[in-house]
Amino acid sequence: MRVGILGSGLMGGKLGTIWAKAGHEVTFSYARVAGKLERLARECGGQAGTVAEAVHRADALLLAVHWSRIDDVLEQAGDLAGKVVLNCCVPLDTRNRDLVVGVTTSGAEDVARRRPHARWVAAFNTSPSEALFDVFARNGKEPRPHLLHYGDDVEAKKVVAALIEDVGYAPLDAGPLRTGRFAEPFAMVTAELAYAQAGGPKLIYRFDRLP
Ligand SMILES: NC(=O)c1ccc[n+]([C@@H]2O[C@H](COP(=O)([O-])OP(=O)(O)OC[C@H]3O[C@@H](n4cnc5c(N)ncnc54)[C@H](OP(=O)(O)O)[C@@H]3O)[C@@H](O)[C@H]2O)c1
Repeated sequence: MRVGILGSGLMGGKLGTIWAKAGHEVTFSYARVAGKLERLARECGGQAGTVAEAVHRADALLLAVHWSRIDDVLEQAGDLAGKVVLNCCVPLDTRNRDLVVGVTTSGAEDVARRRPHARWVAAFNTSPSEALFDVFARNGKEPRPHLLHYGDDVEAKKVVAALIEDVGYAPLDAGPLRTGRFAEPFAMVTAELAYAQAGGPKLIYRFDRLP
């Protein structure tokens, strides 16, 4: 698959690298220094480009920027019509402390409303970036950690589920995009566990059901 990375920081840089190593054609875009995109691309056999180039080349996109940068990226990205867009963004204030969207809507729904012709799926917002390379390194070993994903487009969710599996997680379908109203606060729980509680940031999770 051709994957465009819109925001090549902690999440985008790592997920793009993993997907390139998993065999996808990855274009890294949107960083403050173009040299960073080129370095990321060189290290994993991907490409660097502008946001518009990444969108043009891609079947699927990862949106991975701070909430305050969303409008800037979307303006450069165009209408995104028909593109599967995996959104890992948490709608946080500039201090990364509080959610600025909820409880009767969500960041996932808010962004989807801004580009209604894109095929939005939310995922990876409940996984600290520090866990990604380790999950990828143990890909194939069961039991795999779960990763929530949700969206309204069933076919787009299948595309995203395959990308989630490529990283090494078991995709857990958590329903429609409006699940973001509840999953985004849960993302803050994972951040609290990863960064404020003991044990380090390589946090994974698994939901189970009793027989
Ligand atoms: N980090 C996590 O563990 C984690 C986990 C779950 C969800 N999330 C969510 O995922 C999203 C991305 O988080 P992140 O930690 O990957 O953020 P990040 O490391 O700050 O990456 C954001 C990217 O945007 C680029 N950028 C910022 N301002 C820019 C500007 N003015 N012009 C061009 N590029 C600019 C950054 O450039 P530079 O590379 O030059 O800095 C970077 O490549 C956020 O919404 C966050 O809430 C993060």
